[in-house]
Amino acid sequence: MKIALASDHAAVDERLALAAHLRAAGHDVTDHGCAPGESVDYPDYGARVARAVAGGQAERGILICGTGIGICMAAGKVHGIRAATVHDAFTAEMCRRHNDANVMCMGARVHAAAAIQRLADIFVATPFDGGRHATRVAKIMALEENGASVTS
Ligand code: RB5
Repeated sequence: MKIALASDHAAVDERLALAAHLRAAGHDVTDHGCAPGESVDYPDYGARVARAVAGGQAERGILICGTGIGICMAAGKVHGIRAATVHDAFTAEMCRRHNDANVMCMGARVHAAAAIQRLADIFVATPFDGGRHATRVAKIMALEENGASVTS
């Protein structure tokens, strides 16, 4: 699978380890940074991966910051992105099965590198259930068109 990967400075070691892990499993990983040793703004890296997924250069995106929260907020602002911060195996599985998440976010100050790799494996391997969940996901995506209104 084509996977776009990025992190901010809080998760460089975990991201590099995850990239190696995913490549060893046969995935085509594009690492969008950040470079080791620099302090960066996580929205810039969330946007890079989100744009790669929305633009079709990657099938899925994986993002890591300190908590998995800020980078997820940023990625979710890009049209076409369904980004989810996950905390455990259950949420990693369900963000795919019920929400068809195309970007998964994790916190390197929450999880150790091995747990991050385990959650990424689940995210990559789990299909969308479709059915009634497709109707709900379509309503999420419709908010990109009408969500600016506070009355509807
Ligand atoms: C960086 O210190 C930290 O704020 C960032 O990695 C992330 O946790 C933000 O949500």
